[in-house]
Amino acid sequence: TYLGIDIGTSGVKALLIDRAGQAIGEATAKAVEPTRPHPGWSEQNPADWWNATLEAIDKLSRAHPAEMAKVRGIGLSGHMHGATLLDKNDEVLRPCILWNDGRSAAECAEMEAALPGLRDIAGNIAMPGFTAPKIAWVRKHEPEIYAKIARVLLPKAYIRLLLTGEHIEEMSDASGTLWLDVGKRDWSDELLALTGLNRSHMPQLVEGSAPSAGLKREFASRWGMADDVVVAGGAGDNAAAACGIGAMQPGEGFVSLGTSGVLFVSNDRFRPNTKGAVHAFCHAIPDTWHQMGVILSATDSLNWLARITGQDPATLAGAAEAGFKGPGEEIFLPYLSGERTPHNNAAARGSFTGLSHSTDPALLAQAVMEGVAFAFRDCQRVLTDAGTTMGRLLAVGGGSKSDLWLKLIATNLDAEIALPEDGDFGGALGVARLGLCAAEGADPTEIMTMPAIHRVIKPDAGLKTAYADQYARYRALYPAIEEARK
Ligand code: XUL
Repeated sequence: TYLGIDIGTSGVKALLIDRAGQAIGEATAKAVEPTRPHPGWSEQNPADWWNATLEAIDKLSRAHPAEMAKVRGIGLSGHMHGATLLDKNDEVLRPCILWNDGRSAAECAEMEAALPGLRDIAGNIAMPGFTAPKIAWVRKHEPEIYAKIARVLLPKAYIRLLLTGEHIEEMSDASGTLWLDVGKRDWSDELLALTGLNRSHMPQLVEGSAPSAGLKREFASRWGMADDVVVAGGAGDNAAAACGIGAMQPGEGFVSLGTSGVLFVSNDRFRPNTKGAVHAFCHAIPDTWHQMGVILSATDSLNWLARITGQDPATLAGAAEAGFKGPGEEIFLPYLSGERTPHNNAAARGSFTGLSHSTDPALLAQAVMEGVAFAFRDCQRVLTDAGTTMGRLLAVGGGSKSDLWLKLIATNLDAEIALPEDGDFGGALGVARLGLCAAEGADPTEIMTMPAIHRVIKPDAGLKTAYADQYARYRALYPAIEEARK
């Protein structure tokens, strides 16, 4: 059997699969929510990921002791970009600055000015979500901490360090650091030098489907496993989801409706388009790349509305669906954490317009779901500008439980959205599959198959024109509101 561990911003999931890729059991543990010490900041304690990881695997091993004894490979997936700073003894120096933290916009501009070729090497714009600008911020604002940095790890590499004792990272997650030459699949000395670092501060690189290191004996015996369990390179959470749903061939992709929203498409080669803030990253298997449009607050927007109206998100989504009559007056810009694609503006903020005495929480919820669908439509526009074509997209993530939300996305992207049959085809499955590849030397393209499709949500032809008009209004609001906020 094979074990996939997905370290998400809101919790850890551990999934056990057999050689045929069938789920045997899963366990989850909630993570401590990120703290927001200032508007636009977002931090989490690495110790909380570790505790949640142990809790999830302990639960799984209690429930499936016989199957745990057969584990041969483990894969790790994690939320991307987070800067976990370690001293020379591998002690954590400060809370991890997360993927949705926008504090380092000034440092991004400084890095781009200092190295005009930055975008060509990195294949990406310097965006505050990425890891390197966060280090530039620490260098400027917390020099005593910067001076002690011996190593910088992404979240799942930190968990790997604790599980195996080794500093190792794989290509898909490393792509989001802004220290990787994404076309060459290697650290870039030039990019590292921009933040005063060098290769000694970086983990060693492997491919996601290759072995990275062995599980420490103490954990093998804690979970009743053999002594020779292999930990695969694994994947950043989005490339991991792609492995889970079999999106490996050019044009195959998915819409992820999680805390963040991601429109992901696989590519046969490195295809950067920095103009629209498209992310161009390595995939988790050799010689493969992918593009993403990333929106920072997807279900996070609905969660926020639920919190401030004292309801739960599913009830709000249900109320929006019950009263749905097509686009109304309310329009929501989902920029609660700023935005990456297409604006690259960490200082952008969310807004509601078109409020009236008839506006109630259900209409606000509808506007929030539409705003997120429009943000995906923006992502599709810039990915298409980068020469990418996409067909049917699979839906993953917690928000894909809402039919209305999926219909809004299908209609706005004018694309069929396919829902996998029951079972979880998220990141945990993807990296369990990578664990299988690493342990057995299996060909990843044979293992990363598409799941059976449960149903397909088609664009609603009757709503197409109304949403084209509403999307035009949505697009006009961003520059007008940003101008007024200056
Ligand atoms: C991708 C990104 C998010 C996180 C969420 O660039 O920042 O999707 O990976 O976990």
